[in-house]
Amino acid sequence: MNIAIFASGVGSNYTAISNAIKDGKLDATINLVVCDKENAEVIKKVKKDNNEIFVFNPKKFNSKSEYEKIIVEKCIEKDISLIVLAGYMRILGSTLLDAFPNRIINIHPSLLPAFKGKDAIGQAIEYGVKVMGVSIHYVNSEMDGGKIIAQKSFEVNDRLTKEEIENKVHEIEHILYPTVIQKLIQGGLK
Ligand code: GAR
Repeated sequence: MNIAIFASGVGSNYTAISNAIKDGKLDATINLVVCDKENAEVIKKVKKDNNEIFVFNPKKFNSKSEYEKIIVEKCIEKDISLIVLAGYMRILGSTLLDAFPNRIINIHPSLLPAFKGKDAIGQAIEYGVKVMGVSIHYVNSEMDGGKIIAQKSFEVNDRLTKEEIENKVHEIEHILYPTVIQKLIQGGLK
C-alpha cells in the first residue's frame, strides 16, 4: 500500500514510519512526502532515503485550493491510498479532504479534544494536567479535529521538565503511529 507523509518540521515521525517499513513491521511504501516549509529538517531525511518529496511555499500561491490541487494530482500520480500527517502544521481544505475521504490521518501530542493546535504539550503543562498523551485521528476541516482512532496516555508529575515530557511523547508517537497505520492497512482502510 502506498502512503504519503505530510510534514513541516523535524520529521522524527517520518523516520519512525520509515524505520518500521524497513524493519518489516509496516506493510507500506512511502511513495510521496509533502512539506510546506522550504527549510524543514525533514527534507534532508527524506532525500537521504531517496524518497520523493514535494516541497512548496504556501505564500507563493493565491489560495489553499491552488496548492492542494497540485498535491492531490501528485497523490493520484503516486497511487496514494493513505495520507499520513506527521507534524504537518496546516489545516486541510476541501480540495484535499474531498479527494481522500477517510483516508487522511493525523497525530497530535495531547489527549484530544483537549489542547488542540500549536505547542499542545506547553498548553497541557500550563493547565497542570496530571495525565497527558498522544492521539491519532481522522482529519476533518477543523484544527486537530476528526474522529479519534487511537490514544495512549501517561502520568506526569511536577518534577518532570518540558523536555522530558516531550521525549516521552515522541517515544509513544514513534511506536503508536506505525502500529496504527499497520492496523488500518490490515483492516482494508474501512
Ligand atoms: C509531533 O509531536 C506531532 O504530534 C505534532 O508535531 C510533532 C512533529 O514532530 N503535531 C501536531 O502538533 C499537530 N497539531 P516530528 O516533526 O518530529 O515528527
